[in-house]
Amino acid sequence: MELLRTPVEMRGWADARRREGRRIGFAPTMGCLHAGHLSLYGILRDRGCDEVTASIFVNPTQFGPGEDFEKYPRDEASDLSLLREAGVGAVYLPGVADMYPEGSQTVVDVTGVSKGLCGDRRPGHFQGVATVVAKLFNAVRPHVAVFGEKDFQQLAVIRRMARDLDFGIEIVGAPIFREDDGLAMSSRNRYLDGADRIAALCLSRGLFRAAGLFGAGERDPLALAAAVRSEVEGEPRATFEYAEARNPETLFPVTPPTGRVTLLVAARVGPARLIDNITLQEGGQQ
Ligand code: PAF
Repeated sequence: MELLRTPVEMRGWADARRREGRRIGFAPTMGCLHAGHLSLYGILRDRGCDEVTASIFVNPTQFGPGEDFEKYPRDEASDLSLLREAGVGAVYLPGVADMYPEGSQTVVDVTGVSKGLCGDRRPGHFQGVATVVAKLFNAVRPHVAVFGEKDFQQLAVIRRMARDLDFGIEIVGAPIFREDDGLAMSSRNRYLDGADRIAALCLSRGLFRAAGLFGAGERDPLALAAAVRSEVEGEPRATFEYAEARNPETLFPVTPPTGRVTLLVAARVGPARLIDNITLQEGGQQ
C-alpha cells in the first residue's frame, strides 16, 4: 500500500495509473475507521475499479468554532492497517499546510442544498466539506467516489458540486452501517459512555418507529417526522436538533402525502452530536 503525503505526490501516482488505463475508485475519510468506512472499498471494487484509494485528513475548515476538531479521534497506525487489510492500494495523507498553504483564498460554496438541516446548525460546515472534497478529487483524480449515506446532506452537496463543476466523477452513495442495536456507525460514537451510548439509540428508534408507521400506511411526511421527534424528545439525555421529511433526490421539504421520503434527524447526546436518516418507499425500505 502506497502512502502519499502531498498533492503533487498523490497526483503523480494518479496520473501514472490513469495513463495505464486503470479505473480509480476513491473513498475519502477523516480516519478513525469503522466497518461502514471499510465497506466503501468493496463497493468501489464492485463498481469495476482496478485501483482503490483512500484519504485520511481531519479537515479543519469543516469544523466550526467550539466544535470537536482538536479532540476528533485520530489513530493513523490502526487506520492504515485496516486499509491494508481492505486491499486499498494507495492512501493520501496530506498535512494541513499541504492542503491549505498560506495565502489560500478559494472556497467552494454549494448554495442550495447546503442550506437547512445541518447547514443551519453548523455554519460554514458544507463549504469546508465541498472545498476539501474538490481538492481531494483534484489530487486523487478518481473515476468513481463513494460516500456514506449517513451523512445524507453531505452526499447531496457533493453530488451537486460534482455536477455543477463538471468533475466527471461518478458519485456513489453507500448504505448506512448499524451496530446490532441499531445505532448508526460513526467515528463520533467513541465519545459515548454507557448511559449516553444507550440514550443515543433514540435516533434510530425514532426512525424505525416512523418506518413502522409508514409500513402500516402512514404517508403524511409531517406525521412521520413528528414520530421521530417525539422519540428523541422522550430521551432525557438527548437534546433534539431536528427531525425533517425531505425529498431523497432534491432534499426539498415534502409536505403532501408521499410514497418516497427521507427522514433526517439530529440530536446531541452527552458530548456527541449525532445524525441519522432513513429513506422510506412504497414496496420496501431503500
Ligand atoms: O465524511 C467525512 O468523513 C468528511 O466529511 C469528508 C467527506 C472526508 C471530507 O472531509
